Amino acid sequence: MKKNDFLWGAATSAYQVEGGWNEDGKGLSVQDIKKLPENTSDFKVSSDHYHRFKEDIALFKELGLKAYRLSIAWTRIVPKGFGEVNQAGLAFYDQLIDELIAAGIEPIVTVYHFDLPAALEEQGGWNNRQTIDAFADYCHVLFEHFNGRIKYWLTINEQNMMVLASSAVLAGKKTNRQNFQENHHMLVAQAKVMKLFHDNNYQGQIGPAPNIAYINPASAKPEDVLAAQNFNALRNWLFLDVPVYGRYNHQAVNILKKIDAMPEFAPDDAEILQAGRCDFIAFNYYSTNTVSAFHEAQGTDGDQQAGFSLPNFFESQSNPYLEETEFGWEIDPIGFKTTIHELYSRYHLPLIVTENGLGGRDIVEDGQVHDTYRIDYLAKHVQQMEEAIEEGADVFGYCPWSAIDLISTHEGFRKRYGFVYVNRSDFDLKDLKRIKKDSFYWYKKIIQQNGSQA
Ligand code: BG6
Repeated sequence: MKKNDFLWGAATSAYQVEGGWNEDGKGLSVQDIKKLPENTSDFKVSSDHYHRFKEDIALFKELGLKAYRLSIAWTRIVPKGFGEVNQAGLAFYDQLIDELIAAGIEPIVTVYHFDLPAALEEQGGWNNRQTIDAFADYCHVLFEHFNGRIKYWLTINEQNMMVLASSAVLAGKKTNRQNFQENHHMLVAQAKVMKLFHDNNYQGQIGPAPNIAYINPASAKPEDVLAAQNFNALRNWLFLDVPVYGRYNHQAVNILKKIDAMPEFAPDDAEILQAGRCDFIAFNYYSTNTVSAFHEAQGTDGDQQAGFSLPNFFESQSNPYLEETEFGWEIDPIGFKTTIHELYSRYHLPLIVTENGLGGRDIVEDGQVHDTYRIDYLAKHVQQMEEAIEEGADVFGYCPWSAIDLISTHEGFRKRYGFVYVNRSDFDLKDLKRIKKDSFYWYKKIIQQNGSQA
C-alpha cells in the first residue's frame, strides 16, 4: 500500500537548471568547458534558477511537491575540487534549502551530478586516486554543514551512464580499460563517503542513484537470454551490488576480465567497498533496453537510453513492441514495474525513483502548453509503480524529471522535460518567463489525491 507520507517529488540538477556559471566564487566544472554540438546551448544561464529559485520554489509549492531532488554543484562549494571552501556557495544552498523546508518540501540532495570540477579533470579526473579523497572531503563539508536539514543524500548520479555513455553526458570517449578504472575509483569514493556518513552518525540516509533499465532478451533464444543477463550485470547490477553487498557482481567481473578492463585494486579497496554500504536505493528510469547475442563485428555507442553493444557479449536491438518519444527513446511503462520488482527482489531495500519523464519539443499556444504526450507517459508510469507497490515492492517516493524545464545533457533546450515551461530557446534567452504546462495541473491533482486513484 502506498503510504500517506509518500514523497511525490520532482528533480533537477545544478548545471542543467542553475546558470550563474561563474558567479560568487564558483569554479568551472567539466560541463562548463566541454565541447558542445553547434546547435546546442552552453550551460551559462540554463534556466537561471540561481537567480529565480524563490519564484521557482513558490511554483513547486503550488504544484504541491512533497519533495524536490536537487544537486549541489561541487564547484560552488569547493571551486577547485580540492582545498578551499567557498562560503558564498554554502550560503546559496542554505537559502535554497531553507526556502524548500519553509515551503514544506523535503530536499533530496545529489552531491555529484555529472559536474566534476575542471581543476580535478586537469589532474586526471577519476583516473587519479586523489579525486577519491577530494570527493570524500567535499562530502564531509556538506554533511557537517547541512546535518539535520537533509534526510536523503544521493552520492553519484548515473555513474553507470558516465561510464557507458560518456560521450553523451560528458563529451569524451575513453577506452574500456580507462572507463572501468575510473568507475572503480568512483565506487571506492562512494563507499568511503557512505562509511563516513554512518561513522559520524549524521542524521538521515544515504544511497546511490544509478540509471536502471531492465534488459530484455530480443527473443527466447538461449543465446539472447544469456546476452540480456550479461548486459543486466554490466549495466545495472555492477552499480548496485557494490553499495548493497560490498562487492563486484561476478558476471560483470567475468566480462571485464574478458575485455581486458578489470580495474586494478589498491591494497585497501576491497575492504573499503565492504565497509561502505547504502541505506536505500535511488534510481532513474526512462525505459528498458533490449539486446540479442552479438552478431556484428563492431560495437555501437549510444546515449543513456539508446542502448549499447559489446563484441562477443550483446548487441543492442530496438524493441518492436514499444513506441518511441520524438527523440527516439523507447517508452515502456510495464518495464518500469518489471524494473521495480527486480530491484526489490534483488536488494530488499527501500526504493525511490529519482528520475522518470519524457523529453519533447513543447510548444506555447496562447500562453499554454498542451503536453498531453507527457501526461500520457507519466500517467502510465505512475500506474505501473502503484501496481508494483500494491504487489509488495517498497517504493517511498517518485521524482519525475524534471520539476522545471532545463537543458538536456546533449540535446540543448529543445528537448524539454519540465512541469513548468521556461521561455527561452537554445540561443535566445528571451524573458525566461515561467509557464505552467498542462502536466503541471495533472501532477498537482495526482499529488493531492496521493496517487492516480482518487
Ligand atoms: C539522465 C540524467 O540521464 O537523464 C539527466 O541524470 C538528464 O541529467 C536526463 O537530463 C535526460 O536525459 P537527456 O539526455 O535527455 O537530457
